[in-house]
Amino acid sequence: MRKGWMMCLFLFSYGWAQAQEKTGKTDMQELIQEQFQFAANQYKVLSRQVPPDRMPKTYYADRNEVETSDTKWWCSGFYPGALLYIYEHTGDTATLQEANRRLAILEKEKHYTGNHDLGFMMYCSFGNAYRLTRNPAYKRTIDTAAASLATRYRPGAGVIQSWNASRKWQGPVIIDNMMNLELLYWVSDNGGDKKYRQIALTHADNTLKNHFRPDYSSYHVIDYNLQTGQVLKKVTAQGAADSSAWSRGQSWGLYGYTMMYRFSRNKRYLRHARNIAVFMLHHPNMPGDLVPYWDFDAPGIPNTYRDASAAAVMASALLELGRYVRGKERKTYVAAAEKIIRSLSSPAYRARLGENGGFLLMHSTGALPLKSEVDVPLTYADYYYLEALHRYKNWYL
Ligand code: GLY
Repeated sequence: MRKGWMMCLFLFSYGWAQAQEKTGKTDMQELIQEQFQFAANQYKVLSRQVPPDRMPKTYYADRNEVETSDTKWWCSGFYPGALLYIYEHTGDTATLQEANRRLAILEKEKHYTGNHDLGFMMYCSFGNAYRLTRNPAYKRTIDTAAASLATRYRPGAGVIQSWNASRKWQGPVIIDNMMNLELLYWVSDNGGDKKYRQIALTHADNTLKNHFRPDYSSYHVIDYNLQTGQVLKKVTAQGAADSSAWSRGQSWGLYGYTMMYRFSRNKRYLRHARNIAVFMLHHPNMPGDLVPYWDFDAPGIPNTYRDASAAAVMASALLELGRYVRGKERKTYVAAAEKIIRSLSSPAYRARLGENGGFLLMHSTGALPLKSEVDVPLTYADYYYLEALHRYKNWYL
């Protein structure tokens, strides 16, 4: 008799949990579709404010002005990439036309060697364009961009140099640079030179060795002697302090090592990504909505700025990391990513149609110590938010 009751209770709880999961999924499906549709409309507002030879950067509400950049700016690939995600999920042909116009002005930067950002610039844009169309011209652009990025590899130190030498540094490498390895590895794995893969692995190994602290937080900038690989200093450019955990930097690291595991299946990278995730998710200064302050150690928390871009990158990374682990751990990462998506999609962060200069998300922080782009929209916050929506829909619904 007792066993019968236990069985009934079990079946009831199981059925209830299943129903809850189904409701949650339908709910997310609706939310995601709504966000893509909103994005298609909102980006038409943005596109009207960007001259044909420029890319959007941010928006200043006090001046009601969209700031734009040339195509050499490190963010120039995010706008076409975002348009392509929107087109993919809405079929909106005007969005595709706008994406094609922007790809056309960006294409020349495949030869650019002035910084390490070619991955951001050319893979977020042309990588998505090739994924969607298989147009061989896009592949040629990506291949050339990889060759340009590889010119910044410094074999003596085993790293790709991020910024050029200045009075401040000799061979600076920033944690963000992990993101550019995707371009190199992808090209190697898709018929390109195998040396790009080796460069990516060596850079990732040296970054793991030199950028991280025992608690798996990372420094922003490591200055190397590029001939010997000696670490000259460990500092910050955009964080609160040399020893602090600049939030977007933590997200770049999380995304970077998860992506490197995707290509290499090297368990060390996976372990490292999981440790970074634990550092971020369990940090005592992580707010309840999982949108980090601009630095985990920022002075004045909770009375300081958030960084929606750090949250968007983190959500997208956690969704990929969730695919490489199982059970409770997988659920934790996906639930955290879902929470971020819900937070960013709420009126607290997502703009209203026609406002925010036509950008999707409010409240990102570019470089607070430089008093640059504080509490503003940013193209990369929008891009990684859309990528997180895309990943959630493709992998978890
Ligand atoms: N890669 C520059 C930044 O994250 O601000």
